[in-house]
Order: sequence, then structure tokens, then C-alpha cells
Amino acid sequence: MKTRISFAELSARERVRALLDPGTFRELIDPFERMRSPYLAEQRIVAQSDDGVVVARGTLGGENAVIVATDGRYLGGSIGEIGGAKIAGALECAADAWARNERTRVAILFDSGGIRLQEANLGILAVAEICDAIVALRAFTPVIAIVAGRVGVYGGMSIAASLCSASIVSEGARVGLNGPDVVEEEAGLAELDARDRPLVWRATGGRRRHAQGQATRFVTDDVDVIRAALHELAIHATPIAPIAPKIPIDPTLSLADFDRELGRRFS
Ligand code: COA
Repeated sequence: MKTRISFAELSARERVRALLDPGTFRELIDPFERMRSPYLAEQRIVAQSDDGVVVARGTLGGENAVIVATDGRYLGGSIGEIGGAKIAGALECAADAWARNERTRVAILFDSGGIRLQEANLGILAVAEICDAIVALRAFTPVIAIVAGRVGVYGGMSIAASLCSASIVSEGARVGLNGPDVVEEEAGLAELDARDRPLVWRATGGRRRHAQGQATRFVTDDVDVIRAALHELAIHATPIAPIAPKIPIDPTLSLADFDRELGRRFS
């Protein structure tokens, strides 16, 4: 029997390597270029040498490709000035390549708590540039969002993910604008207990987002399955179905009843 390799348990760099054709991974602006955030040291935070973003070129099914990934293990995969510029720059280069008739397939692996709180407005600007670059690029080629890590995607990066042409989500993914920690902090425990993980997943998990029509594919946490979905969508993506009307579902239902209710409403 073939052994399943968990995508979520890989690092950002390993995820990108696992999706590109074997032997074709070539990292751009790698950690040895020391493109670190200049703002973290004064906040007594160790700056990571890749600023939590991996950008790589390679091939996907034999076609040129660029894949970028945020590192959920570093500051929750949050986006600051440097990492944001790496992502936006890579997407802009891919659009330039298409404008020169050079086919370049694109995927973004989102594992991010959104704008880096420690970099505030610089993070906001960076995410705006990423959104801009996605919109420009998707006119040339499907831009595929993959949300299958441990953090999920929140804040400004959830806007970026929803701008992509198609998305792949796993059971472990979470997708939302305001993260549970922020909802609890702003609206109080009565609104949401961020430690109630079953509730958080029922409200923002990959299964729910797919059932709501907010994700194109729902996949198991398996590198081979995610790679196959990426190959299919990177070449034949269709636009994401319109967002389903907002119908609250009682989040205190058991998981089985919740699934049944979702299925009934969205079948
Ligand atoms: N900026 C900076 N750090 C962030 C971050 C952000 N946007 N999002 C998460 N992190 C950090 C957390 O502070 C934590 O750091 P620590 O390990 O030093 O305590 C680390 O990432 C992991 O997050 P944690 O909350 O422990 O993991 P979790 O799996 O329980 O929850 C989130 C992850 C993303 C759901 C949760 O952190 C959250 O709700 N974040 C806020 C998301 C949000 O609303 N962003 C809006 C900004 S645009």
C-alpha cells in the first residue's frame, strides 16, 4: 500500500518542492540572500532570513511554473514588507513572462494569519500589492490558491486567496477574514471562544468553505492528491462559483448533524 505524505506537516519549502516536478525546484531570493525584516529586531523578535516566504521556480507537468508559499511556522505566516514584496514581485514577473508569451503556471500556498501585526501599515500595503498582482495575472493564467496548512488563511491574505482563479482547501484548512483570536478579543468570549477548535472549524473550516461554494476543490491532506488537483486546476480552472447566500447554521450542532445540514442546503 502506498504511504500517504501529509502536506500540512511539511515546511513551506518542502511543500513547494513536493508540488513542482521532481528535481526542478529552484528557489529565488533564498534565505542566504538575508532579505530580513528590518523592523522585528527592535521589537525583540528574531527576524527569519527568508521573512517567512518561499518563492520558487520549476516546472508543473513540464510547463514553467512559479510557486510561492508563506511559512505558517514563522509568526503565523503573517505578511510583512519583505515577504509581501517577494510574493508580489514573483507574481508580477509571472505576468511579465505571459506578456512575452512565456507560459508560466502559478500557485500560491497560503498558510497565513494575514497582515503581520508587528509591521502594521507596511503589511497592509504589501497585501494590497499582492491582490493587485493576482488580479493582473489571472487575466493570463489561472492563479491557484492552496490552503492546506496548519494556520489556514485569515485577514488580508484571505482576500488575496479569494481573488485567485480557483482554490484547493483541505479539512484542516481554515478560511476567514477576522481570525478567531481577533473575534474573541474584539467581541468577547460570548461571541466566540477561540480555543473551541471544533467550533472554529465548523464556522471557518475547509469543509464548510467548500460546501458554501467558496473553494473549488476539497482535498484530503495528501501531497499526491493536492498535486493532482493543482495540475488539473492550473491548466483548466473555472471561476469559483458565486458565494452562497449567508445562511447561519447553528454552530452548536454535532459534527454529523452539521455535515447533514450543510449537505442539505448546498446539494
Ligand atoms: N501577525 C503576527 N503574528 C501572527 C499573526 C499575524 N497576523 N497571526 C498569527 N500570528 C502568530 C500568533 O501570535 C502566534 O505567535 P506565538 O506562537 O508567538 O504566540 C503564532 O502566529 C501562531 O498562532 P496561534 O494563534 O498560536 O495559532 P492558532 O492555530 O491557534 O491560530 C490564527 C492561528 C491565525 C487562526 C490565529 O492566530 C488568529 O486568529 N490570528 C489573527 C488573524 C487575523 O485576524 N488577522 C488579521 C490581520 S490582517
